[in-house]
Formats: sequence, structure tokens, C-alpha cells
Amino acid sequence: MDRNAPIGVFDSGIGGLTVVREIMRQLPEEKIVYFGDTARLPYGNKSKETVIRFSRQIVRFLKSRGVKAIVVACNTASSYALEEVRKDEDIPVIGVINAGARAAVSATRNGKIGVIGTEGTIKSGTYGAVLREMKPGVEVFGRACPLFVPLVEEGLFHDSVTDEIASRYLSSLKEKYIDTLVLGCTHYPLLRSTVGKIMGDSVTLVNPAYETAVQLRTLLASMEMGNDEGKALPLEEKYQFFVSDLAEKFTDFATAILPDEVKNTVQIDIEEY
Ligand code: DGL
Repeated sequence: MDRNAPIGVFDSGIGGLTVVREIMRQLPEEKIVYFGDTARLPYGNKSKETVIRFSRQIVRFLKSRGVKAIVVACNTASSYALEEVRKDEDIPVIGVINAGARAAVSATRNGKIGVIGTEGTIKSGTYGAVLREMKPGVEVFGRACPLFVPLVEEGLFHDSVTDEIASRYLSSLKEKYIDTLVLGCTHYPLLRSTVGKIMGDSVTLVNPAYETAVQLRTLLASMEMGNDEGKALPLEEKYQFFVSDLAEKFTDFATAILPDEVKNTVQIDIEEY
């Protein structure tokens, strides 16, 4: 495997760009091929079987682009499909759950951890299982926050409507006296300040997107697979973006949250893979 090959990253749509942003910051030498399944999102309310089928197709597409490793940036796909897609693969495939859970168990002092995510992520119980395996005895409280995704996609990061909805969602977690809260959905790091204001300073917020980039860096270093080309590539060559629908809308959002302007997003037919 070529150590200078790109890293494949995928998500149900735009949210995985929060993971891409962290990889760009922490591994600036790496090339990235991103796929956002904008035609078939959201994944958060789909069945496990469907999410596995979609994830397999996307892995096949990313492999056709010659990637050296794959990051499943979507929490729902990581919850439902990571083990399934990983077992057929000869390249490393990592999700966001393990990295987020590891940071949460090291942050908690009272052993009470909250997890917020899509309905699928919470229903799967994957965060809870991984957290309890890492730290037996830990208490895990999950809460699905389905309206957070559309609020972020509407750009309502700081808005009274978002404050009101967040207060309602988070009240049950406040009653449990959690001291750590995992932002278990790609979109939620963009609501960090709203969630932080409601939960208060005593609650540590864990961003799995950040932790996943840390894990990826460690993994590539341990396998001696980090890019060592040291070549300054034009951005369009270094970072390539693919979607299954509405490339223009994706490009606008990507430009808003990534450090550099995203110029060319390519639409593909994912059903061919
Ligand atoms: N990317 C999804 C996740 O992190 C959120 C959006 C969706 O439901 O597709 O779970």
C-alpha cells in the first residue's frame, strides 16, 4: 500500500466535514477523498441493514479511488456498520465511536457519561457498549436529538430556537448529574457553545471528530503509513469531494466550515458501486 495515497472519509452528507476539518488541521500533509451521501441522507433514522448496505457501497467507491485507510465519519454508520465493513477490508477502517469513547472515559470523574446523537446511534447502544467495555461500571445516559441536524444545516448555530430545543433535549441528562457529554453526531460540534451553555462548566464536552483525527495520526504513525511526499499540491488535487446529489449546496457548506474554499465537488452515482 502506497503511504502517499489519500485517506478516504465518508458520511451521510455534509456533517462529516467536521471530521475532515480536524484531519486537515492535525494531518496537514495528508490527501483526502471525501464522499457525502447527500442523495440518501439522513442515516440517523434508517435501519441498520440499510446503513450497512450504503456503507459497503461507499467503501467500494473509496477503494476505487485508491485510498490507504478509511474513516467512517458518520456516527450512525460507525454505530451500525463499522464492524461489518471492516471485516471484509485489507486496509484500516476506523470509526468515530472508539475515539470519542476513549476521551470520555478519561475525562469522567464521577463515572456518569451522557451521549447525544441521532435516533440510530442512540438506539444501537454502541457508545454505551464501548464505554462500558473501556471502563466497567460507568453509567451511560443516551439522548437522541433529531432536530439538531436540520438546525445546523439551516445555519442556526446561535439562535433562540436552537437554545429552546437544546434545553428540552438536554434537561433529562442534567437531571442525571453527568460530568461528561459525548457530542455523538457529526453536526453537534457546531452546536458546542449552545450545548456547553446549557450543561454548564462542570460538564466536559467530548468531540469525537477531534479525537478521531488524533487516533488516525497515531494509527498512521504506528504503521509507518503517514504521507512523506512533502509536496505542496494544489488544493483541488489534495482534497477531493464527491457527493451523490446537490453538489452545489454541499460546496457552499464545505466552504463555510473548512479553512479553504472548496471549488469542485463531483456528483457520482453511488448505486453503481
Ligand atoms: N452524520 C450523521 C451522524 O453523525 C448525522 C446526519 C444523518 O442522520 O445522516 O450520525
